[in-house]
Amino acid sequence: MITANSPESSLERARSAQDMRHSFGGQQVGDGEKQELVNSVFGRVAKRYDLMNDLMSLGAHRLWKDALVARLGPPRRSAGRSVKPWRCLDVAGGTGDIARRIVAAGGDQVNVTVLDISAEMLAVGRGKSQDAAYADRIEFVEGNAEKLDFPTGEFDAYTIAFGIRNVPDIPAALAEAYRVLKRGGRFLCLEFSEADVPGFDRLYEQWSRHVIPAMARTVQGDDQPYRYLVESIAKFPSQRRFAGMIEEAGFRRVGFDNFSGGLVALHAGWKL
Ligand SMILES: C[S@@+](CC[C@H](N)C(=O)[O-])C[C@H]1O[C@@H](n2cnc3c(N)ncnc32)[C@H](O)[C@@H]1O
Repeated sequence: MITANSPESSLERARSAQDMRHSFGGQQVGDGEKQELVNSVFGRVAKRYDLMNDLMSLGAHRLWKDALVARLGPPRRSAGRSVKPWRCLDVAGGTGDIARRIVAAGGDQVNVTVLDISAEMLAVGRGKSQDAAYADRIEFVEGNAEKLDFPTGEFDAYTIAFGIRNVPDIPAALAEAYRVLKRGGRFLCLEFSEADVPGFDRLYEQWSRHVIPAMARTVQGDDQPYRYLVESIAKFPSQRRFAGMIEEAGFRRVGFDNFSGGLVALHAGWKL
């Protein structure tokens, strides 16, 4: 795992949380406008979101998500022992992909609350989870990552996958993550990042500029929402800068692992 203290490049410095707050689809928007625009994107893509995820990542998002859950290691029940409930908050949890993996990997004391700002994404998630054996251990809640309606010190773990770059005020979301965790609680965040393999960044750029919009036109009939998703990836702070932001929120033992040549990074920290 790479730690947060290595020096950053000028390209890294150019991508900042401040840019993210007011940037939508390559344009600058006013205070408060970004969230409404993001909501309209996910409202439009919700029904085909999972299919598009498979196509856009050639299925790799499944491996990245599996890696997050393996790192989290939700507790399993040991035979004959009663175990305390263990609660995870999966923020920007959308259609419940991470939540279903967590409850399937853990024992029956594992419960996940999926929080998302999009009622449409949550509706798809509820539909996909209702017939699962563990459906009663997943709860879907509408809410904003920037202001969580949960008491301080409520959760054993906080996860967020491909969600944080959509939240306009990232420092506020990180501060809330820290607040709702118990002492000893785990923070894990999966997000697109800066490729560190020569040539890979250019390959990805071609893929995201040409192939993804073409897929979106075929599957969704509209490439506009996906142009936003691609732009938001390009704007997101580098691995090191984002790790620094996680530390600034109060987390300790912060670091990250790169997947797929740095295209995606798994960030980790603890509330100690
Ligand atoms: C790219 S999807 C990720 C969904 C899921 N975590 C996954 O990995 O498949 C991003 C999600 O972030 C949600 N989102 C955007 N802004 C949010 C906010 N301020 N608070 C909570 N969720 C938000 C969107 O509604 C959307 O469901």
